Amino acid sequence: MSSTLFRTKKVEQSILDTEEPEHALKKSLSALDLTVFGVGVIIGTGIFVYTGSVAKTTAGPAISLSFVAAGVACALAALCYAEFASSVPVAGSAYTFSYASIGELPAWIIGWDLVLEFALGTAVVAVGWSGYFRSFLDTNIGWHVPAVLGGRDNAHGFGFDIFAALLVLALTAVLVVGMKLSARVTQVVVAVKVTVVLIVIIAGSFIVKAANYHPYIPPARPAQAGSDLKAPLIQLMFGWAPSSYGVMGVFTGASIVFFAFIGFDVVATAAEETRNPQRDMPRGIIGSLIICTLLYVAVSIVVTGMEKYTRLSVQAPLAEAFKATGHPWFAGVISFGATIGLITVCMILLLGQTRVFFAMSRDGLLPRFFSRTHPRFRTPYRPTILLGVIIAIVAGFTSLTTLGELVNIGTLFAFVVVAISVVILRRTRPDLPRAFRTPWVPVLPFLSVCASLWLMLNLPAETWLRFAAWMVIGFVVYFLYGRSHSRLGLRERAAADRTAPPPSGDPA
Ligand code: ALA
Repeated sequence: MSSTLFRTKKVEQSILDTEEPEHALKKSLSALDLTVFGVGVIIGTGIFVYTGSVAKTTAGPAISLSFVAAGVACALAALCYAEFASSVPVAGSAYTFSYASIGELPAWIIGWDLVLEFALGTAVVAVGWSGYFRSFLDTNIGWHVPAVLGGRDNAHGFGFDIFAALLVLALTAVLVVGMKLSARVTQVVVAVKVTVVLIVIIAGSFIVKAANYHPYIPPARPAQAGSDLKAPLIQLMFGWAPSSYGVMGVFTGASIVFFAFIGFDVVATAAEETRNPQRDMPRGIIGSLIICTLLYVAVSIVVTGMEKYTRLSVQAPLAEAFKATGHPWFAGVISFGATIGLITVCMILLLGQTRVFFAMSRDGLLPRFFSRTHPRFRTPYRPTILLGVIIAIVAGFTSLTTLGELVNIGTLFAFVVVAISVVILRRTRPDLPRAFRTPWVPVLPFLSVCASLWLMLNLPAETWLRFAAWMVIGFVVYFLYGRSHSRLGLRERAAADRTAPPPSGDPA
């Protein structure tokens, strides 16, 4: 049994599968498209929304160090991702990579985990976008959207975030129609978003007051009373009293602002749609990550210097910091840019989500029905529509705080598996051409595993429990469906039947 759980799909077979006409995606993306794609999905709710809440309640001005810590963990993971993406250039990201290296069950686990990351990530960003959009309508058009249509966080009792749901449905339609259209839309929106971030950095730097940086790392203080399960797991493991701020606050902050970096791994999910994945994938992944890390550190230094961290807004901190310092015009521009900018984040997460689902279905681990591409648009329209509708409903009922952490733990777990897989694939397939090689193997992958695990341990205990529950459901689905329908398993069984000696007593 263990041999079937760890059966691996040959890399060559993975590439061959993508060439079946009914299950093939169009190859149209360049390195620049990928970088724009990366920046388009990376800069989003993390920097626009979480910067305020994390500085205010968890890390103080040292949030810039939290961004550095999260950025280092992501850079290590990116170097591992880049090797895989350049040697296994088929849709599905970490899922495909682990199928080719450590086996079917781990691949299933990672695919199931990525569904969580992308689906909930899409919902979280749609809700963040809706908050900015409502504030935009309120300020500029004078329409105050009723609380019941503002989602769970705003309404007392029943609440449905109508704009978040509508956004997801609209983007689903764009993705069904085709990749090229969405890539073009992405380029324009990314330009708007990066401009807004640069405005924050440049205009804000003239308003910074040195006094706001004191204390840079606020002294640790006991966390507010509440369930122990809300404390970071590491604090519970070592019996430390739950606290915020201080040095540990920097790391707790890093585990939350990590959300701001999610997305560079999504670039890898588009490998199959890239013209020259061996060359362009590593450039796309690492390029977009470097650009975003520099921007984040700069934004967080500027914003915590503009306004005392205790007074930062938790809903729209970048815009509100300008309003609070007497520059409402900049605030208006930033809100507008954020409203536009979060759209691409949502769209690309949704895209990554459908591609992982598509790859799992093509392998037979989910029903094959989902992996037929559209005869005209050549997009995996079935999973796109199914998941789009489900995510729209989830977004309507989402609570931002809880789901963001769940997305982070799922993504960090994927990073751990990818780093381990790099080492395994080097041993099992040393012959495979690798356009990009992770440096210092196995030391760098080991450091990547440690960094990701460290951030995971800084997430609340209740997030670990929710993650475990999701994974248990995944195991049930795999053992009830995926294991017996796996195409790899069917091929292996057919080959075994052909080579098996005839039963004794058979006249042939
Ligand atoms: N990194 C993306 C964001 O911050 C997911 O919204």
